[in-house]
Amino acid sequence: MLKGRSLVEPEDFSLTEMDGLFTLAEKIEKDEKYMRDSCRGKLLATLFFEPSTRTRLSFEAAMLRLGGSCLGFADPGSSSAAKGESLADTIRMASSYADTIVMRNPKEGSALLATKYSSVPIINARRRGASPPYPDFNRSSYIKRLLGQIGNLTVGFCGDLKFGRTVHSLAKALARYENIKMIFISPEELVLPDYIKSILKKQNVQFFEREKLEESMPEIDVLYMTRVQRERFFNENDYIRLKDTYVLNTEKMQAGKDTLIVLHPLPRVNEISVEVDSDRRAAYFAQARFGMFVRMALLSSVLGVV
Ligand code: CP
Repeated sequence: MLKGRSLVEPEDFSLTEMDGLFTLAEKIEKDEKYMRDSCRGKLLATLFFEPSTRTRLSFEAAMLRLGGSCLGFADPGSSSAAKGESLADTIRMASSYADTIVMRNPKEGSALLATKYSSVPIINARRRGASPPYPDFNRSSYIKRLLGQIGNLTVGFCGDLKFGRTVHSLAKALARYENIKMIFISPEELVLPDYIKSILKKQNVQFFEREKLEESMPEIDVLYMTRVQRERFFNENDYIRLKDTYVLNTEKMQAGKDTLIVLHPLPRVNEISVEVDSDRRAAYFAQARFGMFVRMALLSSVLGVV
């Protein structure tokens, strides 16, 4: 039972619980009336201390589609955080108004701290951090939605594997499934951190590190492209040198399997040419929409209305 539980780290929900959420999300997608109005009278607070398009809007859309209501802020400058209010006090107040809280806060440990002061479930929508839990749910559920299973797959991760924390959390999430081979494609400066490799080794995941995307294309089932994260570089020249190392274009797509799925956490910058958007294997925008159904499943589950 997920009722009343917070989601801070990917491991907070078991595989069985995650599978239950995916199944529910698929049901909702197929029949949007299925859960309509199930959250009538419930309030979601979205507290975003850093920018977001997809995460905040899709959580709010999810709650509204469930018949509930939303309140919150998209910019901490418009909240009393700007006057120096502590996160603990902000959370105390928000949890006294709302039935659940979705929070994106860039400070390490902030979501865990929020659970200590909240009387309602906290959903960590953090984008950067040791283990942002939310992206895994969306990406792995969409892989299951498209392929019918998660397992016996070769997954390619390409781009900024050092700073791209969704890569870390997705790799950790997929490592929990059977027979997943991973190929990590990045320039030398942006390789996967050692602590993620240690986790994969402990779990006996077969993985390879490469520098060229082209040579890996024919064997990849799921390609997870990521942008080089400008905001994480101390030196702008390094960013400029590395930002266009990988650009997925129609030529490279020709070397991919017919059944290939291309995902991206979005926002996209240059790493996927817009011409690839019309390729039927480009799944990133559809996946972002499916994320809304996963969020409907999650909200209705933690609110105990399923
Ligand atoms: N993918 C994602 O988290 O997008 P936003 O930063 O726009 O929420």
